[in-house]
Amino acid sequence: MDDKANNNNPGMPLIPPRRGLSPARFLLAIGYLAIVGFTYCYFHSTPPNARNYDILEQVTAPHLNQRPVVVQDTQHELVPLEAHIMSKCPDAKDCLRDLVLPTMQKVLDKVNFTLSFIGTPTEHDDGVACKHGAEECLGNIIELCAQRLYPDPKTYLGFVMCLTKDYTHIPQRSLIEDCALEHAIDFNVLNDCATKDDGAFGQNMLRGSVKRTAAAGVTKSCTVRLNNEIYCVRDNRQWKECPSGPSVNDLVIAIQKLYRQRA
Ligand SMILES: *[C@@H]1O[C@H](CO)[C@@H](O)[C@H](O)[C@H]1NC(C)=O
Repeated sequence: MDDKANNNNPGMPLIPPRRGLSPARFLLAIGYLAIVGFTYCYFHSTPPNARNYDILEQVTAPHLNQRPVVVQDTQHELVPLEAHIMSKCPDAKDCLRDLVLPTMQKVLDKVNFTLSFIGTPTEHDDGVACKHGAEECLGNIIELCAQRLYPDPKTYLGFVMCLTKDYTHIPQRSLIEDCALEHAIDFNVLNDCATKDDGAFGQNMLRGSVKRTAAAGVTKSCTVRLNNEIYCVRDNRQWKECPSGPSVNDLVIAIQKLYRQRA
């Protein structure tokens, strides 16, 4: 039985004569090995950084219907977060201190934050009526000026928190000067903004802000809106209408979830 295969080809020698390895064949073989080896190493070695690796994964695994991580890292839209307040309202103090500021400290880079004001536009003089009077309107204007002049929330939100902690003294000059100094805001620039065009400039900003609040259907200070929807209300020293929870952690999780969805 062992001989059968050999017997089928009686004329063929068992071992073919050794073909000489010519120099040309030798070089071809080396070249082939080099290409295979290089290709293997290129696609299997650790890339210089994680981003290259992500691109490589996309190239070598086109069947994975995922966006490249690189694009997600750089093209996330910011999540809109807004607080609607009145500058002389105690609920604004609780709301900023207990929810908005600690949340912003955790997700500053994921959020487009807007501070808006609650009031009633008056038709006869293109002005605004504020619940706690003209002093509150001026306080609101000063805070809007800070937001406009120092758009980094780390600066203007810190300044607003500083004023709000002492809200009964808004808009006393000494309070505004102290808070401006504490948050690297130039008091004179702030004052110029609040008094520009005999106050018409600030008044128009405040009108725009209270109209924005009214258009959102917001009436209570403080109302926090996330992604243009009411997230939570602080009213009469209590949290209300907070189905997702009033804690910093609840809001941070909600923001992170929205941020991930906005690739
Ligand atoms: C942030 O939100 C405001 C509205 O509050 C909008 O006008 C502005 O374009 C937004 N900016 C970014 C960078 O998304």
